[in-house]
Amino acid sequence: LLITKLEPGKIFFAKNAAPLIVAKDANGGIFFASSDAALIGVADEAAYLDDGAYGVAGTDEIKIFANGKDINLSFSKLAKDKSYAQKEGYKFFMEKEIYEQSAVVAETLMGRIKDGEVSLEKIDAQALEDVDEVIFCACGTSYHAALAASYFFERLAKIRAKVEIASEFRYREPLLNKNSLFIVISQSGETADTLEALKIAKNARLKTLAVCNVDNSSIVRLADATVLTRAGIEKGVASTKAFATQVVTLWMLALQIAQAKASISKEELKSEIAALLHVPQILNISKEPQERIRRLAKHYLHGHGFFFIGRDIFYPLALEGALKLKEISYLHAEGYPAGEMKHGPIALADERLFTIALMPQTVLYEKTKSNVEELAARDAYILAISPEEFELSDDFIKTSKQAHPMSEFFEMMIILQLFALEIAVRLGNDVDMPRNLAKSVTVE
Ligand code: G6P
Repeated sequence: LLITKLEPGKIFFAKNAAPLIVAKDANGGIFFASSDAALIGVADEAAYLDDGAYGVAGTDEIKIFANGKDINLSFSKLAKDKSYAQKEGYKFFMEKEIYEQSAVVAETLMGRIKDGEVSLEKIDAQALEDVDEVIFCACGTSYHAALAASYFFERLAKIRAKVEIASEFRYREPLLNKNSLFIVISQSGETADTLEALKIAKNARLKTLAVCNVDNSSIVRLADATVLTRAGIEKGVASTKAFATQVVTLWMLALQIAQAKASISKEELKSEIAALLHVPQILNISKEPQERIRRLAKHYLHGHGFFFIGRDIFYPLALEGALKLKEISYLHAEGYPAGEMKHGPIALADERLFTIALMPQTVLYEKTKSNVEELAARDAYILAISPEEFELSDDFIKTSKQAHPMSEFFEMMIILQLFALEIAVRLGNDVDMPRNLAKSVTVE
């Protein structure tokens, strides 16, 4: 994020691809930034420039042009709340954001479940009737949310779902079908690869939808419709609450389409909605799991790598757990489908290979267990995360018994986030500003 208050003199600027926001304060000060997160509490109102705009700004005036003509910028009020900028007693923003997840998910759900049905604002599920395929496109953590969403869309809404990494999609000359709904997922709304992928989909005349955390961002402005995830400003570079809210939002979207298509029964819808409403409670945790993970973390500072494994929706969660660890601990970690380990990676198994096994009780427990047993038989060091005791594990984190897979998903998600955090802290790393990474990647 860049923010500059102008000193006397003039500054010339032009907007092309990367985001550019112009803001003003009550004293005539003019500011430039790439995201409104940097402006909140500093400036009072902001205007979001489109590509091709250029101009000149003096200390108290600003002129903007596009295609050789003057344009009038429309400024909107910025929020005044700076509380996101404080750690509120936590050592790291990431830690604060992990504990905030219960409250932000409650916010994500707010007003979107009425009379036993999901009703996302601005989504007319009937209008999506001719959609016969959904293409999700995203980068990083948002890509993992997309992958989780593909399970909901096929299972609940009975719509074929494809998942694309934006940087691959851009250049592989994809064949696109007009009846596909193109859903981009982005915390920042400014990721260059995701934005370009969205442009490709728009040019191919697909219906487009953004699932995004930042209103007025480039992706939100370009997509035909948006569902905001309402995570609030996320400061930690390693995404936590943004991921939780993306998954919840996409789950709701799948349910809303399922309702409109009557592809799930009334009872199933009822139990899905009960599970959705239960998420804030699952995410409302005491400090006890973190204390326990802190003690365990010392076992994981050496070794030659980590495999996070899971099946079904716990596979995208395994990918996300591995990404969290890589991002802030700089240790090598991979997420893998548990059933795929035998096709190569098991060759790496020895007592210095750490396996983090997601073993939910509600999804393919016996299958996952036998995959983990194979690794244990090769002497891999196993951390099992499960409501069921697992006698072959070296370390064990017991989760609670739950009726719905997503309740297990969110309980395990927090454990993985805290696990990465505690290892990174022990290694003395800067958890909030990991080396080589940026919160918002506005270049290719
Ligand atoms: C960067 C961030 C990641 C994030 C990815 C996609 O690499 O460090 O945390 O997942 O961009 O960002 P987006 O804002 O599009 O979700």
